[in-house]
Amino acid sequence: MNDDTGRALDLLSSRRFVTLTGAGISTDSGIPDYRGPRPVDAPPVRMPMTYQEFIASAVNQRRYWARAHVGWSRMTTAEPNAGHRLLTALTRELVITQNVDGLHRRAGQHHLIELHGRISEVACLDCGRRTPRSAVQAEMSAHNAGYADRHADATVRPDGDVELDDTSGFVLPTCAACEGRLKPDVVFFGENVPKERVARCLDAVANTAALLVLGSSLTVMSGLRFVRQAHRLGTPVVVVNRGTTRGDDLATVKLDLGVSEFLEGLYSERSRIVDERADSFSTTGAGTGDSTSITA
Ligand SMILES: NC(=O)c1ccc[n+]([C@@H]2O[C@H](COP(=O)([O-])OP(=O)(O)OC[C@H]3O[C@@H](n4cnc5c(N)ncnc54)[C@H](O)[C@@H]3O)[C@@H](O)[C@H]2O)c1
Ligand SMILES: [Zn+2]
Repeated sequence: MNDDTGRALDLLSSRRFVTLTGAGISTDSGIPDYRGPRPVDAPPVRMPMTYQEFIASAVNQRRYWARAHVGWSRMTTAEPNAGHRLLTALTRELVITQNVDGLHRRAGQHHLIELHGRISEVACLDCGRRTPRSAVQAEMSAHNAGYADRHADATVRPDGDVELDDTSGFVLPTCAACEGRLKPDVVFFGENVPKERVARCLDAVANTAALLVLGSSLTVMSGLRFVRQAHRLGTPVVVVNRGTTRGDDLATVKLDLGVSEFLEGLYSERSRIVDERADSFSTTGAGTGDSTSITA
């Protein structure tokens, strides 16, 4: 263990902390990130469609939904990994995730805010009606028989869609109530996170003893703002990320480490402290010697 890892474990093992996660916690589940290191010969990652592009035309909406339709099965086969599960075991404080994959929820995270929404929900832009994505997927399959199979080899992209250029023949899904335009209920680039959701996160960061950032480049302001707030308040910040982040200068400790690996270390450290407390309790002979009631 190097000195920085030791400092990070010291900071977090006996303190309450709020966690902010990004795409890096889900790469072990097979969902790619945008800005992680990649092979030099890999094609550049195409950034997702912005809100303004999506709204601009039916052609763009068709392109979005055709790609998302083909990529969906790969998104739904992803399972929570050790990192998601360890975090659930480690904290009942707030976890703020920038991910839309729903994996923290599926790992049973106790107190969770999905800052950018969830890809498994769809909203109508015209009447606001919400529909599960699975229903929209079924509608798209019915109107575009064989489409997903014909494009099954397309490269999967971070937000659950694929590389696919010719989408002209794809029949768009529409709202079952008003035949309006459907959009996944996630915050697109160029769109704002709902104010009330941000306020709940800022409040939690203001009232915790430390902030832990896991697997995020912090390029997006909606995540970076929590690191800035913690720093302003003098709250310790630990950043665990492979590669540089926009918050490195604000971090009390920055670790260039895998998320799961770090959380395994934190889990062991917590367990060691609990065992030590239990030992000292029984060896000092306090109370009746019944150490089974001691918890972390
Ligand atoms: N899984 C998802 O839901 C998903 C995936 C990609 C992007 N997005 C969206 O795009 C935006 C991207 O911002 P971001 O900061 O979350 O992602 P990002 O791609 O900008 O940064 C991810 C960072 O994690 C690091 N990383 C990858 N695997 C890691 C691991 N196992 N351990 C430690 N570090 C690891 C990468 O090097 C990179 O620096 C988010 O707002 C999110 O909404 C979501
Ligand atoms: Zn509608």
